Amino acid sequence: MNVLVTGGAGFIGSHTVVALAEAGFTPIILDDFSNSEAGVIDGLEQILGYRPTTYTENCHNPETLRRIFRDENIQGVIHFAAFKAVGESMQKPLEYYDNNVGALIVLLKTMQECHIPNLIFSSSCTVYGEPDALPVTEQTPVKPAFSVYGNTKQIGEEILHDTVSAGIPLKITALRYFNPIGAHPSAAIGELPRGVPNNLVPFITQTAAGLRSSLTVFGDDYPTPDGTCIRDYIHVLDLAEAHVAALRHLVQLNTSSFYDIFNIGTGQGVSVMELINSFERVTGVSLNYSIGPRRSGDVTAVYAGVEKSEQMLGWKATRSMDQALEDAWRWQVRVDKG
Ligand code: UFG
Repeated sequence: MNVLVTGGAGFIGSHTVVALAEAGFTPIILDDFSNSEAGVIDGLEQILGYRPTTYTENCHNPETLRRIFRDENIQGVIHFAAFKAVGESMQKPLEYYDNNVGALIVLLKTMQECHIPNLIFSSSCTVYGEPDALPVTEQTPVKPAFSVYGNTKQIGEEILHDTVSAGIPLKITALRYFNPIGAHPSAAIGELPRGVPNNLVPFITQTAAGLRSSLTVFGDDYPTPDGTCIRDYIHVLDLAEAHVAALRHLVQLNTSSFYDIFNIGTGQGVSVMELINSFERVTGVSLNYSIGPRRSGDVTAVYAGVEKSEQMLGWKATRSMDQALEDAWRWQVRVDKG
């Protein structure tokens, strides 16, 4: 089965290309490389033993989608292509709504027109906001978004829900990602943030590598055991494999219209300080860090209830956080060597 992976050169996209190929699917990449590097395709070739078919184009254009759907005999789409920087989204709301919501509508209309039945959509645990109870399950109410980025994910989910409710023949699964970290153990692909990283683990690995002088821990006065925020960090390859499980589940469904949502996390909450301590233990590198003020928009704690994805998708995370941190570090060392 040929699967179009929009944003397939990105961090989660590229690891999902590997997982799809290993599971016997044929991934076809569509990426405009606006936030990824051409070298990712070389890394994929190194892992897969062949160069995945790649279209360097934008997914806003229905003509592009029609052509690829037809030429590549596409039967399913995994839609990663989106902007994802929370802070930037507040400065550039129209770009975010256009790229994250506008392109989704184009994709859905073109899939309907071309009779492509299966879609997996990248959503985020950000839709839960500051939850009232933990872990969050798929029944946990969605809270008003803190950011334009978060709102694009909520609106995206609503569009998918309404599309399927109208009886349009599309089978759609939204995956709510928790915090993906790590890299492929070969260090051929990994996370490549441009500029100063927003996310914790790339900031840690760049600091450990000497590219940044010090990590700031954003607040140690939260109501958690050690005062730092709690998240659910999942190895990116576990997250990638969740897409394979979700796609298999969609394909075997005996219905023409379907929409459901799954949490994709480990179920374990880990604090920022616990993660830093694990990184130092696993790599033997001591990290220069200091405690700073809270970062605006951060929630205190969020981690996933994972029963639904275990039961319905037959998937659960199998890799440890230590493994993810080792892989993230191996990748950082490789990137630094060039
Ligand atoms: N953190 C630091 N220092 C840093 C970077 C992060 O202390 O330099 C802390 C944050 O305050 C937070 C934790 O590390 O407590 C994780 O932060 P990340 O930025 O790595 O991840 P977030 O949980 O903030 O981000 C996730 C997803 C986003 C999503 C966001 C919504 O990665 O896609 O949740 O809050 F939008």
